Amino acid sequence: MKNFNHLKLTKFISNIFLQSGSNEEESFSIADHLVDSNLVGHDSHGVIRVSKYIQWLNDGNIKLNQSIKIIKEDNSFLHIDGNFGYGQPIAKQSFNLGIKKAKKNGHCILALKNLGHIGRVGAWSEMAALNGCVSVLFVNTSGFGILMAPHGGTDRRLSANPIAIGIPIEKNDYLVLDMATSVVAEGKIMVAKNKGSKLPEGMILDGYGNPTNDPIKFYSEPVGSILPFGGHKGFGLAFMIDILSGALTGGNSSHPDNDNSHSLINNTLAIIMDTQQTVSNNYFQNDINRLTTWVKDSPKADNVSEILLPGEIEKNTKKERLINGVPLDDQTIKDIKDTAILVGIKDVDNDFIYTLLN
Ligand SMILES: NC(=O)c1ccc[n+]([C@@H]2O[C@H](COP(=O)([O-])OP(=O)(O)OC[C@H]3O[C@@H](n4cnc5c(N)ncnc54)[C@H](O)[C@@H]3O)[C@@H](O)[C@H]2O)c1
Repeated sequence: MKNFNHLKLTKFISNIFLQSGSNEEESFSIADHLVDSNLVGHDSHGVIRVSKYIQWLNDGNIKLNQSIKIIKEDNSFLHIDGNFGYGQPIAKQSFNLGIKKAKKNGHCILALKNLGHIGRVGAWSEMAALNGCVSVLFVNTSGFGILMAPHGGTDRRLSANPIAIGIPIEKNDYLVLDMATSVVAEGKIMVAKNKGSKLPEGMILDGYGNPTNDPIKFYSEPVGSILPFGGHKGFGLAFMIDILSGALTGGNSSHPDNDNSHSLINNTLAIIMDTQQTVSNNYFQNDINRLTTWVKDSPKADNVSEILLPGEIEKNTKKERLINGVPLDDQTIKDIKDTAILVGIKDVDNDFIYTLLN
């Protein structure tokens, strides 16, 4: 494990995307999002993804430098086609428009189809919250990232179908619940595999439908599956999210025979509301503060020092990593190095990599 300076890392990752054909804005948008995911502690959605993104690009599954195409629009609705562009820049363009509409008209429903991996979903809720908007996001993958067994099933039938809910709070801050509906996000299994560690019990099945904690068994043929969180409830939520973000946006719900199942598409349905056009800001913030104090005052269980609200652990991790740097394991560093060389960046040896350390 080595700790990297987030600014130097962002610049280096940005350069990888630039060398692979993305323009400066797109390169920075992807790199900034990935490094921020590492900063908040979601290494599964951080720079570990760089080699995969470039592989998808080289396989022709993602298109460079795309702009959004508006299919349908009214005062409070936007239906957008992402033209199979990288997820981060397409989501950024779309949420900018959606937030603008919500600020003007009180709310906006944003239906997004055909965009690449949007990474850490909570980042888009944070963006809405920092603009004074509540947001609810439902996300699927249309047939590519099928990973999760249905409740009672034993093989992969659904994606990890995440949901994010963001709330703006005082002092330009936010609360964000951001979670996969699988008991663990697939990227965290990849992180455990790269580190050579085991997973806690009750998260995954091997390719024969047996419980296992070995990430290698999850990835080897026949591939394993992830369980939904909370049994039938997580499964039910994942199934409905697939319909809302897949079928309702026109981007397809999880099925391996879909036209776009060859690439990781993150169709998204988002509800964005300007809080100030619903209730007074004073009332909203006072009520949140009252609820927060009430919940945080619960007597703590053994070994618990603080009750954390949605998004708090990420904010705490970010504070720490901004100071101490982003920890990356040797396999991830090697993958990034190899990808940099692949796209034509010269002199990327260990000496160079060490200049990026914190
Ligand atoms: N783009 C995609 O297709 C996709 C798919 C799946 C997951 N993801 C992303 O993967 C990331 C990880 O998802 P996950 O389900 O593993 O998240 P997680 O289980 O780490 O966290 C889920 C939520 O629980 C909160 N939380 C964590 N620990 C807590 C505690 N001790 N007390 C109170 N609250 C706590 C977090 O703030 C977060 O809001 C997310 O950013 C998600 O958006 C993306």
